[in-house]
Amino acid sequence: MTGLGTPRVHLRRTDSTNLRARALAERGAPHGTLVTAAEQTAGRGRQGRTWTAPAGRALLCSLVLREPPRLLSLLAGVAVAETVDMAGHAQDRPARVKWPNDVLVGGRKVAGILAEGRPTERWAVLGIGVNVAVRLDDLPASLRDSAGTLGLDPPDLERVLASLLDRLDAWLVASEHAALAAIRTRDALLDQPVGWSGGEGVGAGIDDDGRLVVALAGHERARVALDAGEVHLTGG
Ligand code: BTN
Repeated sequence: MTGLGTPRVHLRRTDSTNLRARALAERGAPHGTLVTAAEQTAGRGRQGRTWTAPAGRALLCSLVLREPPRLLSLLAGVAVAETVDMAGHAQDRPARVKWPNDVLVGGRKVAGILAEGRPTERWAVLGIGVNVAVRLDDLPASLRDSAGTLGLDPPDLERVLASLLDRLDAWLVASEHAALAAIRTRDALLDQPVGWSGGEGVGAGIDDDGRLVVALAGHERARVALDAGEVHLTGG
């Protein structure tokens, strides 16, 4: 096990737990340092987007990771999906991962992951937001059709955090082979329409480098592999 969650800084209100964790990482915080917050005023999402969550109802956390694995972003998706399943949805609707790492239940996004870092200094900050006790009516109208919630209560936040740290502990030391196998079983884009700025096609799996394979529309057997850092999916 890798000892995630110690030391821990909990903030009632902050701009972004990822920004706080990055600042700590730059000052030498050890592997496993955890920043949590009840509320973020400038939550950061992937590709420059913002992340919005009502105060006290979402798990908002960021971890400092030293020597992060190559497929960090994908294996974090698996860890979060397992956490979501353990929180209660697994029997009827197992969590799926929409490449690279949006976690969906019933097609709705219940969790987002933002990995940022300094590869040259061999550290990363892994930021995770999970809509544990969010009421969809409390979200901005623009998110209500796509966002989901675990439908739990605020006192459940710490239990879900403990479960998430446990799953991450396991996946951070797992083999790439195991992580890829796990993500492939939860691939929400498999056989689904995929669009991005460079074209469109149908999701055809995830390759051994963690890239999304797309079968190109109108080109029999032609495939491309999309890199998470470069591609912005347009959703079909
Ligand atoms: C995404 O889906 O675009 C990624 C969202 C990541 C949100 C989490 S909330 C905790 C951490 N702090 C941030 O500012 N962002 C991440």
